[in-house]
Amino acid sequence: MRTLAFVNQKGGTGKTTLAACLAVAARDAGERVFLIDMDPQKSLIKWGYRRGDKDLPVETVSPAKLPTVLAALARGNINLVIIDTPATDSPAADAAMACADLTLIPARPTVFDIWSSEMTRGKLKTLGKDFAFILAQCSPMPESARVRDGAAALEAMGMLLQPFVCARVDYQEAAREGMGTTEIDPNGKAAEEMRQLWSSVKRRFTRLKQAEKSTKRAA
Ligand SMILES: Nc1ncnc2c1ncn2[C@@H]1O[C@H](COP(=O)(O)OP(=O)(O)OP(=O)(O)O)[C@@H](O)[C@H]1O
Ligand SMILES: [Mg+2]
Repeated sequence: MRTLAFVNQKGGTGKTTLAACLAVAARDAGERVFLIDMDPQKSLIKWGYRRGDKDLPVETVSPAKLPTVLAALARGNINLVIIDTPATDSPAADAAMACADLTLIPARPTVFDIWSSEMTRGKLKTLGKDFAFILAQCSPMPESARVRDGAAALEAMGMLLQPFVCARVDYQEAAREGMGTTEIDPNGKAAEEMRQLWSSVKRRFTRLKQAEKSTKRAA
């Protein structure tokens, strides 16, 4: 089982939207997915109620209980857990980062969003945990040289997952309907973005597995 957390202290960067749409895309690809909402706003829980899908459960879990709940899920038939966290420096975000195999930091392509993730990045480095940015709510028009250069620098450091997620109505429609973008319009661009993002996350998990194997061999 792999655990993925969406964290960024900055509000409104797309954590909940991406958690929901990526969960659906991963489920479409055959993963057995469980969603955990650690945000007191409970947006993901409400999305789950609207969806009413017992094959894609969404539960609230407290920071103290997270390790026990993940251990129980790992013993069951779930192979992917996606955790949504509040936009604050909180025990919930700390617990999610400590437990996740990979933390994704959605940020709009602006310096304010990137700067506001500094504390999150610092914590992940201290924990020795894998993490990557996702550039979210990007313009569907070709990005400026400034954004492209910033993204290339992040990517060169292994700190950016493709694709750029654009600002598209399908993400808002999907949230409203309790769906993913792959369901709202399977042939749309937002659907393709989520399929690509799931491929990127899977590749990252494969890389993690290889790193874990070589650490074991070295030990
Ligand atoms: N790719 C996108 N295209 C269009 N709208 C988006 C996209 N991603 C998010 N939004 C919209 O931006 C707003 C914030 O998104 P969301 O709630 O997912 O962010 P968040 O990081 O979870 O926020 P919070 O920090 O408050 O939990 C919502 O209104 C959502 O519909
Ligand atoms: Mg949210």
